[in-house]
Amino acid sequence: MSQSSSTLAVPTTGPTPRHVAIIMDGNGRWATQRHLPRTAGHIRGVQAVRRVVEACGRRGVEYLTLFAFSSENWRRPAQEVSLLMRLFVRTLEKEVGRLVEQGVRLRVVGDLSAFDEKLRRLILAAEERTADQSALTLTIAANYGGRWDILQAIRALWAAHPELISQPDKMDEAMLEPWLAMAYAPEPDLFIRTGGEQRISNFLIWQLAYTELYFTDCYWPDFKAQDIDAAFAWYRGRERRFGRTSAQLAARS
Ligand code: IPE
Ligand code: IPE
Ligand code: MG
Repeated sequence: MSQSSSTLAVPTTGPTPRHVAIIMDGNGRWATQRHLPRTAGHIRGVQAVRRVVEACGRRGVEYLTLFAFSSENWRRPAQEVSLLMRLFVRTLEKEVGRLVEQGVRLRVVGDLSAFDEKLRRLILAAEERTADQSALTLTIAANYGGRWDILQAIRALWAAHPELISQPDKMDEAMLEPWLAMAYAPEPDLFIRTGGEQRISNFLIWQLAYTELYFTDCYWPDFKAQDIDAAFAWYRGRERRFGRTSAQLAARS
C-alpha cells in the first residue's frame, strides 16, 4: 500500500513539510540575462541543487523531489539536451560520495529506457550506493511526465492483475497507487516552482492532488536556503483542509 493517500484518508501534517517537490525553472533566463549561453544556467543550477539538498536535510524534510528533465524537454535543441545529459552524468559521478556523507538516499524516477546505457548504469549504481541512507530521500525526476506515470502504473497493475481488464469496476485508487513511480513516498506537502511560471508542466499530476503550491519569480540558479525558509514560512500559514471546513479543523485542535 502506498503511504497516506490524501483522497482516501485525511493525512496528518506538521509545521515542516515531510515531502517537498520542486520544479527547478529559470536556468535559461538566468543565463540569457547575463548574456551567457542557456547551458551556463544549467551548470549554475547544479550548485542550487546542492544548497537545497543540504537545507532540506537540515530542516528535517524527509523527501525532496526535483524535476530535472521532463518528458517534453526532448523538444529542445539537440545541443541543449545533450549538455543536460552530460551534466546529469557528471553530477552523478561527482556527488554520490557527498550524498552518502549527508545520509541521503537517491532515487531516480521517469522513463529511463530513453537514456543511454552508461547513464542507466550510473543511475543504478548511485541508487545502490545510497540505498541504506535514511536522513533524506532525494528523488530526481528525469524523463518524467505525470501522464507517463499514470499510464505506466495502469499497465503494471493490469499486468499483475489481468482479471481487472474484464472487470474495470474492481479497480480503485488504492490498487493503482503502489504502481506509481513514487509509491515509496507520501504525497508532496509543498510544491515549489521557481522562475515565475505558474503551471505544473506535467510534473507529479496524480500526487499533487492536495499539495500546497508555491510560486516564486526567483530563477533556479539564484535559489538559496533563505528562499526555502520563505517557502516554508508561507507553508506554515496555509490551512490544509483536505475538503473539510475551517470550523471542523478548529474543533479538532
Ligand atoms: C529549467 O530551466 C531546467 C530544465 C528544464 C532542464 P529552463 O531551461 O527551463 O529555463 P528557462 O525556463 O528557459 O528560463
Ligand atoms: C519544467 O520546466 C521541467 C523542468 C524544470 C525539468 P519547463 O521549462 O520545461 O516547463 P515549461 O515548458 O515552461 O512549461
Ligand atoms: Mg523553463
